[in-house]
Amino acid sequence: MEPRASHYILLLLVGISLANPVRKPGPPAFQPIPGNVDITSKFLETNKGSSEHLLEGDLLFPKIKNALYCLNNNNNCFWKKNSSNLVEVPYTLSSEYSSTDISIIKNAMSTFHNKTCIRFIPRLNQTDYISIENKDGCYSYLGRIGGKQVVSFKRQGCVYHGIIQHELNHALGFYHEHTRSDRDKYVKINWEYVPTDKASNFQIQNTNNQNTTYDYSSIMHYGRTAFTTQAGKDTITPIPDATVAIGQRQDMSNLDILRINKLYGCVV
Ligand SMILES: *[C@@H]1O[C@H](CO)[C@@H](O)[C@H](O)[C@H]1NC(C)=O
Ligand SMILES: *[C@@H]1O[C@H](CO)[C@@H](O)[C@H](O)[C@H]1NC(C)=O
Ligand SMILES: *[C@@H]1O[C@H](CO)[C@@H](O)[C@H](O)[C@H]1NC(C)=O
Ligand SMILES: *[C@@H]1O[C@H](CO)[C@@H](O)[C@H](O)[C@H]1NC(C)=O
Ligand SMILES: [Zn+2]
Repeated sequence: MEPRASHYILLLLVGISLANPVRKPGPPAFQPIPGNVDITSKFLETNKGSSEHLLEGDLLFPKIKNALYCLNNNNNCFWKKNSSNLVEVPYTLSSEYSSTDISIIKNAMSTFHNKTCIRFIPRLNQTDYISIENKDGCYSYLGRIGGKQVVSFKRQGCVYHGIIQHELNHALGFYHEHTRSDRDKYVKINWEYVPTDKASNFQIQNTNNQNTTYDYSSIMHYGRTAFTTQAGKDTITPIPDATVAIGQRQDMSNLDILRINKLYGCVV
């Protein structure tokens, strides 16, 4: 993506409107995204200024060739279970985050801890880990790529409960719900509103759906106007009932949690 000055200006404006200098300390139980926008609108907006080459809006393209297998559900892309049947995902946190940012991030992680066998743990000397950084957008690699891998939560625009869970889910190996192998039965892609250079974001992937039904309420589902060329026009319309809500921004759905537990063989 070409970094363009106009995008930086837009990003700055979005950032200013989001800044809340009087955030109270203490546990931020749930941090909704202001302005009633869905997750994808929010992070696509934030990512417009990113200089990274992002797939599907927020996936980093692996520079290591082998990691490409991750795009076909290679088992090496998943984090390893330890002998206590827990999956440790070591992380480091940039020192640029405020204590409020950190508690929002840790609280989002705690959902995984409470409902799955995933354990985000501060890194000691582990080789494979996620490095949570305040870079130029909200994005992640897909699955474990080996060694250090960046997950970016830009301070202005990405430090929200739902966005953090969304990106961490990518790091665990999950695709976007609207690219599922069977999505054409559940949503219609309105190609007339999809910019040609963004068509790849709507490509069906060879996903392992874990015998779970299509989940309109997944935190991994894009909102209906993602990437649209015309304001107000849907790029994704649920079928047969076009009024079904998609692109929720609050929390992982029960199916999101079930899938983590299935994929990682959690005993919960
Ligand atoms: C597995 O991971 C959990 C969570 O980090 C940890 O408490 C436990 O000691 C680990 N078990 C082994 C055998 O390493
Ligand atoms: C997870 O459980 C802990 C301990 O019960 C609780 O403090 C925390 O709020 C829970 N996290 C979420 C996101 O519900
Ligand atoms: C990390 O440190 C522990 C304890 O010092 C050691 O047993 C382990 O082999 C180290 N692991 C790596 C990957 O260096
Ligand atoms: C899905 O269901 C089929 C048939 O019931 C079963 O053979 C398969 O192992 C299941 N796959 C998963 C990932 O649960
Ligand atoms: Zn995503």
